[in-house]
Amino acid sequence: MYTIPDNWITNVPAIDQEHENLFQKLMTCREILSKGDQSFQTHYDDFLKDLLQHFENEDAYMRKVDYPGVEVHAKHHRILYDELKNIPAQADLGAKRIDHAIKVLFEDIVHDDLYFSEFLRSQKTK
Ligand SMILES: [Fe+2]
Ligand SMILES: [Fe+2]
Repeated sequence: MYTIPDNWITNVPAIDQEHENLFQKLMTCREILSKGDQSFQTHYDDFLKDLLQHFENEDAYMRKVDYPGVEVHAKHHRILYDELKNIPAQADLGAKRIDHAIKVLFEDIVHDDLYFSEFLRSQKTK
């Protein structure tokens, strides 16, 4: 069981729960890939499905609370999804690609989702 680091917690429970789930699934993919198991693609497709749903949920939530950065954030999600979708094509390069995916995904959280978390906090103190 993997847990995401404390400084990546957004304090938006629905978002944090989804990030946790995505992180678990990605780490499982990484393990499978490093073992050379054939089920990698199936697991990775499942991860991508959840990722797409997560991005949709997050975009919808941001729109609901009139987050000013929503369009930029949604665009970033689309770019990120395309990048992650292409990882299996390079899966023969092994766990290194998945390590990259993990880094890319969690950079999204650190750099972008945390801005949103800041925004929500600032709204509460108004
Ligand atoms: Fe997110
Ligand atoms: Fe995001």
